[in-house]
Amino acid sequence: MSEDLIKVRGLNVTYKTSKGVFGKPTNIYAVNGVSLTIKQGEIFAVAGESGCGKSTLAKAILQLVPTASGEIFFKNQNIFKMTKPELKNYKQKAQMVFQNPYSSLNPKMTIFETLAEPLKINTDLGICDIEKTIKEKLILTGLDESCLKMYPHEFSGGQRQRIAITRALMLNPEFILADEPVSALDVSIQAQIINLIKELKEKCNLTFLLITHDLSVIKYLADRVAVMYLGEIVEYGLTEKIFKTPKHPYTKALLSSAPQITKNNSEKIILKGDLPSPANLPDGCKFHTRCPYAMEKCRQQVPFGTEISPAHTVRCFLYDS
Ligand SMILES: Nc1ncnc2c1ncn2[C@@H]1O[C@H](COP(=O)(O)OP(=O)(O)OP(=O)(O)O)[C@@H](O)[C@H]1O
Ligand SMILES: [Mg+2]
Repeated sequence: MSEDLIKVRGLNVTYKTSKGVFGKPTNIYAVNGVSLTIKQGEIFAVAGESGCGKSTLAKAILQLVPTASGEIFFKNQNIFKMTKPELKNYKQKAQMVFQNPYSSLNPKMTIFETLAEPLKINTDLGICDIEKTIKEKLILTGLDESCLKMYPHEFSGGQRQRIAITRALMLNPEFILADEPVSALDVSIQAQIINLIKELKEKCNLTFLLITHDLSVIKYLADRVAVMYLGEIVEYGLTEKIFKTPKHPYTKALLSSAPQITKNNSEKIILKGDLPSPANLPDGCKFHTRCPYAMEKCRQQVPFGTEISPAHTVRCFLYDS
């Protein structure tokens, strides 16, 4: 059994906007009571529609946004209680590939400067060792040394994503948070980056948190998947199990939108309406306003997670024991 690499317990992230209705600040409840465990060596996916809090969750794990409450552990060590050197080590071991390869690279820096930067900031390596490390990493991501003198605008989206992934590898991480790594790319290029992620996981012993709304990417890559709705995880478990026998009505709705990928026999649910605003969360089960099975209880009470089979948990009153 693999060790736990990342544990998140009861995580809440609230953004405060400076201006709301009538100039008052508004709270955006982006992540609400999220708990999950990512095991060493796995690809753990987070799925859910736009605005459900996927990127915020990833940023919170890396302390890129302040958390309102909750705990995050890296190798059983609470990251909020780490000493400065421990936190520095954590931030080297956990790296993020950001959502958009077009805006995540500094347009004014050459690729060499971009790749050298993390080494210059975090290590004492001299220029020869920096060059050597960069060349080693370029081989891993299938890039050519000729790219080093060029600027980001000279590359296609797929190449830029390779550069962003190379940068994430510079400090020999153990954990990579990949936020929609292929969604900005042409379909023809997507498969190359998906295969690269799979290869890197094996070659570099990596663990991934893969954030995507693309179910085909999850099916191909992820060992386990968590489905998020309005900042909460509503169902999680082994990808194969969730795809074959989804339980939560929201998961069923997500999978209904991609019947060619999932081919499960559960009932098809077509979602009505938009995601409610995270500034104004519904009472009770957050999905009740769009759920075809909503009962009175769902409008008033919050369901807790029920383990319906080993490695499969769902947060819905339909499965309350
Ligand atoms: N810096 C911020 N300030 C205020 N609200 C924010 C901020 N960043 C995100 N939000 C809001 O928090 C909610 C969750 O956003 P987040 O970016 O985490 O969603 P997401 O699931 O990653 O969406 P997408 O699939 O579109 O990338 C959204 O309502 C978003 O508008
Ligand atoms: Mg996002």
